[in-house]
Amino acid sequence: MTTGRDSLMRAVCLLSGSGTNLQAILDNISAKKIELDLTSVISDNPIAMGLERARSSGIKTGVIDYKSYAKKADYHAALKEYVANENPDLIILAGYMRILSDDFCDTFKGSILNIHPSLLPKYKGLDTHQRVINEGEAYHGSSVHFVIPELDEGPCIIQYRLKISLTDDAESLKNRVQKGEYKIYSEAIRHFILGTIKMENDKIMYKGGHLVKPILIEEN
Ligand code: GRF
Repeated sequence: MTTGRDSLMRAVCLLSGSGTNLQAILDNISAKKIELDLTSVISDNPIAMGLERARSSGIKTGVIDYKSYAKKADYHAALKEYVANENPDLIILAGYMRILSDDFCDTFKGSILNIHPSLLPKYKGLDTHQRVINEGEAYHGSSVHFVIPELDEGPCIIQYRLKISLTDDAESLKNRVQKGEYKIYSEAIRHFILGTIKMENDKIMYKGGHLVKPILIEEN
């Protein structure tokens, strides 16, 4: 991967849970498939397994524990201050279960990526694997998108799509979807680092033109 930059792009990762997406990104950094200086992993949850994964890779961790702030606004201010001090070019949300403030989204606009377990714009919000089964959908998947203040609304960069089988349940779908997430998140990050993908006026520019539909990767 040749970025043409003098120094590595700086990134932080925000997560709340197990951090398997973070792990896939860390593995790709180690394998030099992604050239990124991941300076810190931050969680709202002090016992998130993702923090352990970061420590095992020698990455600094930060906990901004939502529950220890009496006022929501103070939590948001503390998170913004921590992230701003890291001076990131890229903010990677990897299973971060809090809604970011509008101020945070505006401050870091164009540099926040999220992965959501559905084929956006379908199935925003939680419990996506069960909801697609309940609705009898034929396809399911995951999307990497830029973050804007409206939840799960930002423009989509890349999607992973799989065909739901009659034997699938929410757990099997989660496992199949996550295998794809490990591929597409790193792919989106690579594009971001290379500058082949960027957000302008809430639209995605891809290699100089508008990206009309997300890049699609099918399960094989
Ligand atoms: C992922 O499935 C992602 O789509 C969603 O949260 C989950 C995080 O999983 N936003 P993990 O913590 O990376 O294992």
